[in-house]
Amino acid sequence: MPGPILIFDSGVGGLSVIPALRRYLPDAALVYACDNAMLPYGTRSDDWLVQRMLAVCGAAVAASGCSVLVVACNTASTLALDALRHRLSVPVVGTVPAIKPAAAMSESRHIGLLATSATVSRSYTDRLISEFAADCRVTRAAADSLVQEAERILAGGAPDPAVIRSALEPLRAQADLDTVVLGCTHFPLLGEHLAAALPRRVRLVDSSEAIARRTLQVAAAYARRVGRDRSLATAPDARLARVLAAFDFDAPSQLIAS
Ligand code: DGL
Repeated sequence: MPGPILIFDSGVGGLSVIPALRRYLPDAALVYACDNAMLPYGTRSDDWLVQRMLAVCGAAVAASGCSVLVVACNTASTLALDALRHRLSVPVVGTVPAIKPAAAMSESRHIGLLATSATVSRSYTDRLISEFAADCRVTRAAADSLVQEAERILAGGAPDPAVIRSALEPLRAQADLDTVVLGCTHFPLLGEHLAAALPRRVRLVDSSEAIARRTLQVAAAYARRVGRDRSLATAPDARLARVLAAFDFDAPSQLIAS
């Protein structure tokens, strides 16, 4: 029996890929799972994060009976994809910063990478840059504060312009930068706020279309959607249930004890 498509992130960031997934796979059943008890991932040690991903994604795959796992988290994907693929019996689609399309798009050949502190400093990111943006200048900005900002805004909080401006300062200071990679799935959820705090010439690029296209290729068979989609969380609560409901997911069930 084919299972649903499981989308995993530390928190609500992975919801930014849901619209593209539903466009590419309109009748697929989805399950959203998040490790919100352990959010944020961007400041965790590598060893801790690999072990945590194996435990939590292993549990989410078993609980959902999914046919594909989409790791909608750059911080986890740039570190733990090999370990997950080795351990899990289902195909795994990863999310990595959209350096390649951004480099193809940039006219000034100066792009920015806005991501968690873990993602901006990973060797996986260095390899993406040398492979796809060798002729570009790349300014990296670690913006862990924007993860909590996205969580807060999605739950109904008011945006804090000071937090947003200060996270973007290293990019705002670059006169010729014309393209910014949103290398954390939380950041497209802040799209309009980020765009408003950056010069008008700057284009924002994220990975959601590429993830949806790849999932469509990989998901040979999947369960059909019936009613609302399911969700799982390591710390389910009413606030998270409201955010998930806005994306047409049922209230979360408990995913492993944290
Ligand atoms: N949404 C995750 C990403 O794409 C990271 C958020 C976190 O730090 O937990 O990197």
